[in-house]
Parts: sequence; structure tokens; C-alpha cells
Amino acid sequence: MAFVYDEPSRTFQEFLLLPRLTTKQHVSGNVSLKTPLVRHASGEEPGLSLQLPMVSAVMQSVSDDKMAVALAQQGGISFIFGSQSVESQAEMVRRVKKFRAGFVVSSANVRPDQTLREVSALMRETGHSTIPVTDDGTEHGLLVGIITGRDFRPNKIDPETLAKEVMTPRDKMVCGQEGQTLTDANEIIWEHKLNCLPIVDSDGHLRHLVFRKDYESQKENPFQLVDDQKRLVVGAGINSRDHEERVPALLEAGADVLCVDSSDGFSEWQRDTIRYVKETFGDEAKVGAGNVVDEDGFRYLAEAGADFVKVGIGPASICITREQKGIGRGQATSVMRVAKARDQYLEETGIYVPICSDGGITLDYHITLALAMGADFVMLGRYFARFDESPGSKLLVRGNFVKEYWAEGSNRARNWQRYDTGGKKALVFEEGVDAYVPYAGRLKDNLAVTREKIRSTMCNCGALSIPDLHDSAHLTLVSPVSLREGGAHDVVLKDDEMVTPMES
Ligand code: IMP
Repeated sequence: MAFVYDEPSRTFQEFLLLPRLTTKQHVSGNVSLKTPLVRHASGEEPGLSLQLPMVSAVMQSVSDDKMAVALAQQGGISFIFGSQSVESQAEMVRRVKKFRAGFVVSSANVRPDQTLREVSALMRETGHSTIPVTDDGTEHGLLVGIITGRDFRPNKIDPETLAKEVMTPRDKMVCGQEGQTLTDANEIIWEHKLNCLPIVDSDGHLRHLVFRKDYESQKENPFQLVDDQKRLVVGAGINSRDHEERVPALLEAGADVLCVDSSDGFSEWQRDTIRYVKETFGDEAKVGAGNVVDEDGFRYLAEAGADFVKVGIGPASICITREQKGIGRGQATSVMRVAKARDQYLEETGIYVPICSDGGITLDYHITLALAMGADFVMLGRYFARFDESPGSKLLVRGNFVKEYWAEGSNRARNWQRYDTGGKKALVFEEGVDAYVPYAGRLKDNLAVTREKIRSTMCNCGALSIPDLHDSAHLTLVSPVSLREGGAHDVVLKDDEMVTPMES
């Protein structure tokens, strides 16, 4: 007969944290959210850690290079989506590794023989008022001059005038040299009263532009996650079908960590993919795996060599796996079970394999709950899809701004590799939906609030670090009635309708 668990599986929504003694040491500024990303021997420093226990989902609508830059600057990591060609995914990784805060690759450039009519059109199209003039009109051509919106009045000059007749020529320009820091560049900007400093290499080719306005905003990222060459850290999703092509290209592009992305990770496909990575590239190559929901799944992937294990089947906001296939488990139960297996594995082997709670975070406090239940970090899709930095378009729908958010198992993404069990090379039925999420603005502003909420709750729980929280959290189940007690009730909200009375 089939095995049936005695207890139902539970979701985050069903739990609350109880306060523990908050001492005078327990202030938000003393709370560390540093957490391990990859396996390590007990007592040793992991090869990679996060400064914020949040990573962005391996999804087309969430994690591209723009998201990866913004999140790494805040101490988390993006896993750039794998449901694209090997070349374009590797190119995204490369762009993150090349990114230098405040150093912009110029996207609007002209040749010296182009007319002011063309220059004006380019300014209108791109919204840029600083146009470098390079010998071949490309972003890394030989710099010969620069034109700004202040150099000519479109109505007062013949539009057929050539750029070279109006531009400030290279010998009258102040330029920085490749290799200088943002602080160096800013010194030059102030000294020469510039708005924009072009950075050239030793042959005089244009590399970047540094703008005066960017300095203040770029220098204040105390949590930024960088590698030993001061490049931002970035992850990338892989699958168990084309890994022999994809993995070498991603590592070559500079990916710091990979993650085998599948709806069901308890499989020989995943084991073989992890082994391939480790046997071909050694322990230096870091690869997480998943998703699993129980002790057996965790142990299988940990023994295969996974650097972290991702937990969750069916909790995600855009997921219909449970409806379509009837598999999954309440996310809270999955996390607690897998955390137990991780601790057991640590006891037996002395190796700590971090676990990631993936999907189903709908309120900020669910992050703290997941951590309290034993997760080392969480993966989020919906949360990040709402921000300016996500790849989806921002649209006005029924009077509200929204962003597009579509599942990897939707017809739109067509990521059959994530769901394939060795059958047809196509998505036979959908496991996710194509949706919108409310637009929420800049990632940095939202993360500042979320970070503060996590720290504040940890102070209430008497924990100054995530391992502290793992050890000392007290959780309680809540009844459906007490769930209603948790929100505002029995009052008339100023900007809303009457809140339903509890008695009614
Ligand atoms: P969310 O944060 O609740 O939106 O969940 C994000 C997670 O959804 C991702 O990290 C994936 O694990 C999962 N996911 C992405 N696409 C699908 C799908 O089509 N079906 C089921 N789960 C999905």
C-alpha cells in the first residue's frame, strides 16, 4: 500500500514566529544577513556567500543581466535564465562580469561624417544628450570628439552640417584612462567641471563614459557582492539536456555559480549533470540543484555533489504543477523536512550543504519564516518581477501599472527542458501561467524595506544572524480565525472600504 503521511503539509501562511528575549544588542544595525551559498566543511568559510539571503529566480521574466547587476549590488545573486541560446545566456553573464558601477558603455555614437540631422535624431531616439564621435561610429571606436546638446541649436544651424565641424575635438577634450577607479574619474570630473568623462584605452579607443550624476548613486552599495577581481558575482541556470555545451560557455563567460533548474530534481538526470560539472571542471565549479521536497531528495543531490539544494514543488505564484500533475508539498513542511536532512547530513559528514526555499513568498515576513524554518536563503520570482530592473514590459492595465510575469512552464517561455522526463522535446502541457504583477519601482528601494523587515523580526526573535535564527526560532501554527486577526479588522480604513468585522 502507498505511504501516507499522518500530518498535512503546511504553507508559510499557517505559521507565525514567537518573540524571544530582545536584548539591547538586538538592534537592526547589529544583525548580519550573511549566509552561505555553497557547500563547505563545518567551521570553514564557504567559497561563496551572500550578504542578503535572497536570489532571483531562473526565469525569462526575472533574471537577465540588468537584474543581476542590480541584485549583486545589494548583496544577492541572480541566476540568469537558461531558456535561451547558450550564446545569449553567456553574453548576459559576460555583461554582468564586465559591469563597472558608474562606467557606462556608450549606446549612442556617430561617425565624424554624419550630419547634425542624424545627431539630433539619435538624441531624440535615445534621450541622450552626450554623443561621442568615433572613427567608425561604434561604442569602442577610436575617439575623435564629442557632441553635446549644448554644442548646436538645431533651428539655427544647417542640418547638413557634419558632426566633425561642430564637435569638441579629441585634443580639446579631457579623458580618463582605462583602469582608473570611479573615485579617480570623479576627481577629474570635479577638477575640470565636466558633466561627462570619456574613458579611453591606451590606443585611444573609447571604453566607457562616466557621468557626474552617477557617482553619488553608485558609491553607496555597502552590501555589494564581488569576486576577487572586484567584478559583480552572477549565477546562471542550466538544464540536464544540453549541459555539455552550456556549462563550458557559462564558466568561460565568468559565471560564479550554476544551478540545475528543474521542476523535479530528484532524478538521475540531475545527478549526472552535477557529476559532469564536478568531473569536468573540478570542485572550483559551483553547482546547485533541485527542486526537492523531502529528506530523500536532499540526500540524493547532496551525495551527487550539489553545492546547494533548492526546495519547493508547486508553491510558486505562477505555478499550476499541483493542479496539472498532483505533485508537490506545502512549502513550509518541505523546508523544515529538508533542513532536518541537511543538519543530519552535516552531523554524519561534517559537510554543510545550504538549502534554498524556492517560490511561494508572497509577503516579506515569509522570507524570515523560511529562514527560521531552516532555509539558508530564498529564491523569488514574483517579488523581483515587479521592479524596473526585470525584463518584462511595464504596462498600464485597467488604470494600474503592472509588469509582465510569465512562468517557465507557460507556452510563452516554452522551457521544455525544465519539465522533460525524457520524452518529446517539447512542452506537452503547461505547468505555469502568463500573468501580470503590480509594478513596484526600483529594486534598491524595495529591498531596503524588505531587508529592514527581516532584521527587525530577527531582533524580535533575539537573533543576530541566520544561524542564530535557525537555532532559536520558536514557531507556532495559526488557526484560520487567527489569520483574520492578523490584518487590520473592525475599523474603517481611511483609503479603503469598511474592513469586515470578525463577528460577521
Ligand atoms: P514565486 O516567487 O512564487 O513567483 O516563484 C518563483 C519560482 O517559480 C521559480 O524560482 C521556479 O522554481 C518556479 N517556477 C517558474 N516557472 C514555473 C512553472 O511554469 N511552473 C511551476 N513553477 C515554476
